[in-house]
Amino acid sequence: MSLPNAAQANSWNGPEGTHWAASTDRTTGRNAALHRLLFEAAAIEETDKVLDIGCGAGETTVLAARQASCGYAVGLDLSRPMLERARADQARTGLTNLRFEEGDAQVHPLGDGEFDVAVSQFGIMFFADPVAAFANIGRALKPAGRLVFVCPRNMTRCEWYTIPISALTGPPEPSPNACEPGMFSLADRGRIENVLHGAGFRTVTAASAGVSLFFGQDAESAAGFFLGTGPVRAILDDAVMTADAARTVLEDALRPYAGPEGVRLGGELWVVTARR
Ligand SMILES: C[S@@+](CC[C@H](N)C(=O)[O-])C[C@H]1O[C@@H](n2cnc3c(N)ncnc32)[C@H](O)[C@@H]1O
Repeated sequence: MSLPNAAQANSWNGPEGTHWAASTDRTTGRNAALHRLLFEAAAIEETDKVLDIGCGAGETTVLAARQASCGYAVGLDLSRPMLERARADQARTGLTNLRFEEGDAQVHPLGDGEFDVAVSQFGIMFFADPVAAFANIGRALKPAGRLVFVCPRNMTRCEWYTIPISALTGPPEPSPNACEPGMFSLADRGRIENVLHGAGFRTVTAASAGVSLFFGQDAESAAGFFLGTGPVRAILDDAVMTADAARTVLEDALRPYAGPEGVRLGGELWVVTARR
């Protein structure tokens, strides 16, 4: 069967997913401010049933399961390496009120009206057909169930994108097709509203928030992380420079951002809420 998001599935089951899964040791527990933005908006209650879309290695699924202590949390992702990591971490937590499912959120058969709230931290920007995907997620919510997600807002103000790309090739240009699946596909508030209304959601709100994210204990470690990410790999594939040269350039560019709390880069997000 061909998946609607086959290119994303290949990427997140290939180098991208393997790299992110291997990086979670360094980042777990380091982005409390980001989690706060998502979870304050989600206001998960003890008895809630929570769906975590594009859950990756499951850090937010674990946090959701802890809040929904008399309910449960389900993490959904199409990346096997990420889910392997999530299940290994779950075993360490001892929590039994969460599970992980492998599937494409655009078409994955979710229980009709099962969940009180669907959350996502950066896991909903990669759909080929976002209206279909959010409609599928909406069907899994109870009537008046909540959807809450965070996604990057303004590409030029997301240092975690502009710093590495500018250092390697010069300031990044906005994509000619801003809607294609990728990190900034929901950067525009009007598009978020259109997509969610088209998918049957109502009372859509999008609040802007600034956040700084952790990328490594020092410039060397952060450069290692960026070298394995899709945008930097694409630059290296174009043979603009060797991986060794790129590592040095990235380390130099990231060093000014290294502080007592590691390398932290700022950015602007949307905190989006909606009701089925
Ligand atoms: C940027 S990562 C974020 C992971 C995690 N939420 C976090 O904050 O660490 C995006 C995640 O979305 C997942 N993803 C992308 N497209 C998806 C889809 N159509 N259905 C389910 N998961 C998807 C990827 O596999 C990846 O784990």
